[in-house]
Amino acid sequence: MRDRAKNVVCETCHAPLATLTDPTERVIDEGVTCEACHAIRDVGENAAEPRYTFDLAANRKFGPYCDGKDNYFHRMGCAPWFRDARLCGGCHTFSMPLADGKSLPIINEYAEWRASSFSVSGTACQDCHMPPEVDHAATGSARKVRLGQHGFMGEKGDLVRKALVIVASATTRAGKLVVSVELKNEGAGHAVPSGLPGRQVVVRVQALDEKGRAQAREERTIGRVLVDEAGREVPFYAARAEKIDERIAAGEARTFAFELDAPKAGSLVIDVAWRSMSPALSEALGVPVEERSMGKIEMPFGGHRSGKGREHLPKTVVARP
Ligand code: HEC
Ligand code: HEC
Ligand code: HEC
Ligand code: HEC
Repeated sequence: MRDRAKNVVCETCHAPLATLTDPTERVIDEGVTCEACHAIRDVGENAAEPRYTFDLAANRKFGPYCDGKDNYFHRMGCAPWFRDARLCGGCHTFSMPLADGKSLPIINEYAEWRASSFSVSGTACQDCHMPPEVDHAATGSARKVRLGQHGFMGEKGDLVRKALVIVASATTRAGKLVVSVELKNEGAGHAVPSGLPGRQVVVRVQALDEKGRAQAREERTIGRVLVDEAGREVPFYAARAEKIDERIAAGEARTFAFELDAPKAGSLVIDVAWRSMSPALSEALGVPVEERSMGKIEMPFGGHRSGKGREHLPKTVVARP
């Protein structure tokens, strides 16, 4: 993507040390590595778009604690604002200039967070993305009660499962299975799916018969679609406009309606998945689509066999992360 995108400098955020150190330094290729955050000495206070000041020459590492002692490898700085969202905001804010002088937001988590109730309640990016752990910061140092977990997407990479509350209701009408699925974004401090435009959330509904064979299925997809002059979905660097933004803002909910030809008895399976990119972008970039589960509901229906837990409709099931 970097080679194809000739109009934007990608390194500012993806390899922030590129312009700051000797070009032969191997640390540059590590991208958003330890130094990229821990050498930040200051972030502008008025944080519509925070600006970073790095302190590489003094070899000082900054972090939220101020009791660190200099060691043989590096000196210690003091930066309590490492727990503020503005530390993340500068890189997690990115718009592309357009020919007509306007700009197209690409990465927008920080602005979305600022517009959400999470910024009012003081829940920073770190509170969700770097939850506290009790551990040593380094061998020989004192145990800290709060050492941010550095997985960023959860220790097991499963933070996507915490984003949505799923409420599924099903009933029958004229022989059809009528299903409503509500997705509530209660777990993310920004729109879902967040991140790179083209990410998607897919809601799949299937009616299985008693042997577990799919008899009917339907799906809906939401996300953000950026297009070129011809209206085709393209990677962000080639985009000229936003065609659709159907993402679910923080604290908001979206309802999807389905109608399936259903067997008399069986089970209804509702599957919500995160997708790394739309099929159109996957084709344009030649990169496979990756999927992760965001939650699942199974609802048996019909055939009154109480021992097996079969149930009659209508029914509502709520899945919380
Ligand atoms: C994207 C930014 C970012 C990157 C990259 C990053 N950190 Fe951190 N680090 C933080 C933040 C933010 C905190 C404070 C978290 C909190 O307490 O809520 C932190 C805390 C720490 C602490 C505890 C600070 C203290 O004073 O004891 C250590 C140690 C640390 N990081 C080491 C590392 C190392 C080593 C790497 C590379 C392997 C790394 N970090 C990469 C942002 C980052
Ligand atoms: C120096 C710029 C920079 C800073 C500061 C920064 N990020 Fe990032 N972050 C990035 C870039 C670039 C990526 C995309 C990296 C990639 O996928 O190659 C990223 C990716 C992420 C991801 C997705 C990771 C994944 O595994 O998919 C999360 C979550 C994230 N950042 C959270 C944070 C948080 C929280 C902070 C503040 C503590 C922060 N970032 C600070 C540049 C930054
Ligand atoms: C209330 C918890 C919460 C807060 C606050 C929060 N996030 Fe997230 N974030 C999530 C969850 C849950 C996901 C997974 C859902 C998704 O990918 O949209 C996520 C996903 C992400 C991703 C992944 C994008 C991708 O697809 O790789 C990035 C980047 C990110 N957040 C950055 C931030 C930044 C920057 C902030 C602060 C400005 C922030 N988040 C605040 C919970 C939170
Ligand atoms: C102002 C900062 C900034 C600039 C400039 C920037 N990016 Fe990013 N980019 C980010 C952040 C932050 C993320 C993480 C959000 C996410 O995971 O979706 C990201 C994510 C990405 C991802 C998704 C990575 C993944 O793991 O899925 C790709 C690909 C990407 N950027 C490509 C580029 C290219 C190519 C350029 C230059 C044309 C560029 N970016 C310029 C901040 C930036």
